[in-house]
Amino acid sequence: MKLGWAIEIAGTGLCVPQRAVSNAEFARRLDTSDEWIVQRTGIRERRVAGPEESTLDFALPASRQALAEAGLAPEDLDLIICATITPDHPLPSTACLLQAALGCRRIPAFDMAAACSGYVWGLVTAGQHIVTGMARNVLLVGAETLTRITDMEDRSTAVLFGDGAGAAVIRPAGDLRRGLLAARLGADGGRSMLIHVPAGGARHPASPDTLAQRSHYMKMQGREVYKFAVTQMDEIIRATAAEAGVPVAEIALIVPHQSNLRIIESACQRAGVPLERVVVNIDRYGNTSAASVGLALHEARTQGRIRPGDLVMLVAFGAGLTWGSALWRM
Ligand code: ACO
Repeated sequence: MKLGWAIEIAGTGLCVPQRAVSNAEFARRLDTSDEWIVQRTGIRERRVAGPEESTLDFALPASRQALAEAGLAPEDLDLIICATITPDHPLPSTACLLQAALGCRRIPAFDMAAACSGYVWGLVTAGQHIVTGMARNVLLVGAETLTRITDMEDRSTAVLFGDGAGAAVIRPAGDLRRGLLAARLGADGGRSMLIHVPAGGARHPASPDTLAQRSHYMKMQGREVYKFAVTQMDEIIRATAAEAGVPVAEIALIVPHQSNLRIIESACQRAGVPLERVVVNIDRYGNTSAASVGLALHEARTQGRIRPGDLVMLVAFGAGLTWGSALWRM
């Protein structure tokens, strides 16, 4: 959808756990190998939360960093959105915990559960609050402790996921040529069972049986998700660019969800985007779901890969199934 909202990403931040776990560590206890993981996913290591760490512990430093870069204090914020599927608690929301930890005013704060699309959905939701006048300065953080819902005995998922947080402060653009030009959000609940956590919610509350069946861990039909992801990412990149009225060739940088290097390569190739114009950090972080696009965007900014005036497309897909894109003039 064409938007043309004069909003800007004024600051970004990143926080990941100290502990890096290499593929070799998995190969020592599972029937897998560094070679398989690198070839099939592009992942070499991922950051894993320590026993005392959780989603808020990553969200807080990432948020402080984004606020500092934007030159804002916590009391300047009007809204907090925390995109996560691994909140610290079923309730209250991690966004409310973050509001208190930052020392904000009594501003609204809520979690957004859109899995790996959460960061992009959060950016668009932040923009909606700003353009309607509901908020001026919005903090978005995509934060996950995915390793807590990952079955470390299941090689088909254990090697894929990592923990961390990526934050952004969004506000009205100082320069009116900047902004969110176009965005697309979508979901297909008919395919919700392709990635799901069977137990631990109201349908199947945690019980000795669910624990014995390991059904409070994520289950994924990887091959089906893979096929969906490649076609969806390619289509959404081209459709969003068309809605904004810009050729794909003019996009300076694509910041995709980091779920699999082969998905990124093949979707971008189909969309006609060379890999040097794509941010890839999956080798160091694995798939961090809602944090993923935020981590990649922050690294691209700090590496000087985004200049004022650049066209930058964020694109993601994930459990739900969900997808989202956001094309910015930075
Ligand atoms: N090590 C070694 N072998 C493995 C491993 C492993 N870690 N995992 C699976 N295999 C085996 C399988 O058992 C299978 O063996 P078989 O042929 O004897 O049956 C073989 O490798 C091939 O399995 P596939 O599932 O077809 O492997 P594929 O190449 O598709 O890679 C992967 C699997 C990496 C999961 C890929 O399908 C993928 O990335 N899918 C998309 C994941 C994704 O994007 N998820 C969305 C976001 S998640 C979220 O929203 C929270």
